[in-house]
Amino acid sequence: MSADYPSMTTAEIRSKFLNFFEERGLKLYPSSSLVPDDPSLLLANAGMNQFKEYYQGKKTMKEIGAISCQKCVRTNDIDCIGEDGRHLSFFEMLGDFSFGGVSKQQACAWAFELITKEFKLPLDRLYFTVFTEDDETHDVWRSLGVAEDHISRLGEDDNFWAAGPTGPCGPCSEIYFDMGEEVGCGSPDCKPGCDCDRFMEFWNLVFTQFDGDGKGGYTRLANPNIDTGMGLERLACLMQGVDNLFEVDTVRNIMLAVSEKANVKYGEDEKKDISLRVITDHIRSTTFLICDGVVPSNEGRGYVLRRLLRRAARHGRLLGIKGTFLADIVPVVARENFSEYPELTEKLDYIKKVVAIEEERFAATIDSGLDILDSMIKETKAAGADTLPGEDVFKLSDTFGFPVDLTREIALE
Ligand code: SER
Repeated sequence: MSADYPSMTTAEIRSKFLNFFEERGLKLYPSSSLVPDDPSLLLANAGMNQFKEYYQGKKTMKEIGAISCQKCVRTNDIDCIGEDGRHLSFFEMLGDFSFGGVSKQQACAWAFELITKEFKLPLDRLYFTVFTEDDETHDVWRSLGVAEDHISRLGEDDNFWAAGPTGPCGPCSEIYFDMGEEVGCGSPDCKPGCDCDRFMEFWNLVFTQFDGDGKGGYTRLANPNIDTGMGLERLACLMQGVDNLFEVDTVRNIMLAVSEKANVKYGEDEKKDISLRVITDHIRSTTFLICDGVVPSNEGRGYVLRRLLRRAARHGRLLGIKGTFLADIVPVVARENFSEYPELTEKLDYIKKVVAIEEERFAATIDSGLDILDSMIKETKAAGADTLPGEDVFKLSDTFGFPVDLTREIALE
């Protein structure tokens, strides 16, 4: 994909976004740790997390709103990561937030001005979705100059946002970029929200109106609130004219280092590309997680970390990498993020040590486990079945310590 608007580095995009909103009176907050100060959340997964008590009216700020560039980890779609170039488990989220100080109209107008005037994204490639019943937001986009056929309405699954089972939530409106007909599915029904690669969502504007109690009850919040989140790497992908997140400036060199380790070139074999993307993604997220104090374990956030590291190690094996290698990629992650996150370099030795210990521990398990699983799969196939017996899965996990999610993944493949 070649872009017909000026290219920008990830660092330039981050500054432009934050300056734009600072000039309009919103206060800059640093990213919180990936380990949130909130027992209802495993890991920071959105910019709004650190502002929860402002949404709930328990705290107030004198400025009209806040902005941040928040480190986020999301692993709910871990199986998609690597399969395509649109998902990352670790990403930075640019956001503007307001707790009564900014109207919905204003928030949409600022978003529109920023992407069309500052970032100069062409309007004919921008698409907008609104929640089914949200005529008001539909009319705002229309009044800003968006054509009717560039606005679609989506239901609760797509256009209602909540950080977790409890807490502030509400209907949302998403902004998509048309990556081109040639990368789409070609279906006449293809539109924003379609699973294919054509429309990439990059900014979500949530109109946080409710506080969910986790049991299906929603209390209306005192103020109409704004919570927007833009995927920094996604915008960088658009601004740099590349067609996937693994080729943006801050990610590309990490993947290059993995390719060199594996002696495999990206773009020659789709299966190998998947492994390269999985490893690149997972070593990024695990480096940041360990830096923020997470250690591998069998539960909670420690298990998220363990799962990511083990998945990355296994894909290293699929690429034919002999021995442990993940700790060698950690310095590249630290180097590529040095200007914004110097703490990765300050804690480099510690992060490398945690990765190396986990990888070595896993190496022993994986080799024996893979051989056993391989023969189990062969036996299952020979018996004419297409599902591994539960007792085999149990035996692998209980006797050989081979993780069930990995068994599931390999069996699926
Ligand atoms: N909280 C919303 C999201 O994460 C918008 O910031 O998508």
